[in-house]
Amino acid sequence: MRDRPALAVVGATGAVGSVLRALLSERRDLWGEIRLIASPRSAGRKLPVRGEEVEVLALGEEALEGVDLALFAVPGEVAAEWAPVAAARGAVVVDGSAVFRTAEDVPLVVPEINAHAARARPRGIVTGPDCTTLAMIVAVGALHSEWGLDELVLASYQAVSGSGRDGMAALRRQLTEVAGTDLGTKPGDVRRAVGDTGPYPAPIALNVVPFTGELAEDGWTSEELAVRAETRKILSLPRLRVTATCVRVPVVTGHSVAVHARFEREVSVRAAHEILAGAPGVVVCDDPEQGEFPTPADVVGTDPTWVGRVRRSLDDPRGLEFFVSGDNLRKGTALNLVQIAESVANGH
Ligand SMILES: NC(=O)c1ccc[n+]([C@@H]2O[C@H](COP(=O)([O-])OP(=O)(O)OC[C@H]3O[C@@H](n4cnc5c(N)ncnc54)[C@H](OP(=O)(O)O)[C@@H]3O)[C@@H](O)[C@H]2O)c1
Repeated sequence: MRDRPALAVVGATGAVGSVLRALLSERRDLWGEIRLIASPRSAGRKLPVRGEEVEVLALGEEALEGVDLALFAVPGEVAAEWAPVAAARGAVVVDGSAVFRTAEDVPLVVPEINAHAARARPRGIVTGPDCTTLAMIVAVGALHSEWGLDELVLASYQAVSGSGRDGMAALRRQLTEVAGTDLGTKPGDVRRAVGDTGPYPAPIALNVVPFTGELAEDGWTSEELAVRAETRKILSLPRLRVTATCVRVPVVTGHSVAVHARFEREVSVRAAHEILAGAPGVVVCDDPEQGEFPTPADVVGTDPTWVGRVRRSLDDPRGLEFFVSGDNLRKGTALNLVQIAESVANGH
């Protein structure tokens, strides 16, 4: 790879793409040219990156010519078609979609846990996990390396920006439709007022929706199965017991997860605080007497995984309960992709 590799951001106009551009403007600049790519709809628009206005190119072979590293933040079907094309033309692809995450020959990387996995990339593609996995995996991984993880049970509270621009638009529109009303007091009144529920199967304003992703086998959703498969792959624990219930909540940005983790050894709150406080990318915010615990509204726009409400399980000395919040567009997607790209560019 060149000293200052040429970098492409594919999907530069989207929710993740916008955060990728912001991160590339804020972080240490390792890059030569930065090329912005999106659909033909956006070709010719100018968008800022590194303080310059850069013209957006339409995705195609020509746009990928001479690219050393390509960050992909496009819908799965677009990544499935174009990531192999970019890789065949010599770029290392770092993909944020779900398409390659469980493929055996594509490393699934969270640099704080398994940066080394990005070194072997037989297809020229490296991928990062789902935003719900990323919301908790850095904290869980730190505790696992100390105590050995035995089982994970979690419930997510996922923000609408996890569904991209359509999710944010749906929440904003629905909030205006319900503002200043007494809706939410009679069965079905919110649903009738909102009408179009956007990308969700139920209203997201004044509501929570216990269904994210698509319906998969036996009543599980694709997202719940993804969290299980990805956690197993990242932690190299192929038989780990993982149970997830994934829920969409009316938060713009910031995923949270309530975690029950069971370990091979006895745990204590004090030791958990120490382990988490020493873990890269984790901040402990846990003083409930002072009202201090993470909430998405407080952590949005920040990079770390914030952990609070740490408790030892009442009925199990090996069980730990805690609550995490993090920005699903930063560490939850874009920052993780940029960290992988930096680690590849640095030859790690
Ligand atoms: N949002 C999250 O929290 C999150 C978390 C984890 C993973 N992801 C994944 O990241 C990817 C992007 O998500 P997002 O939330 O940023 O979506 P988004 O806001 O809807 O943006 C989609 C991006 O893809 C581009 N695009 C769409 N069709 C294209 C095509 N045919 N050719 C080239 N570019 C095309 C769009 O360009 P135009 O503007 O030109 O249409 C836009 O830049 C998805 O795979 C998603 O699953 C998202």
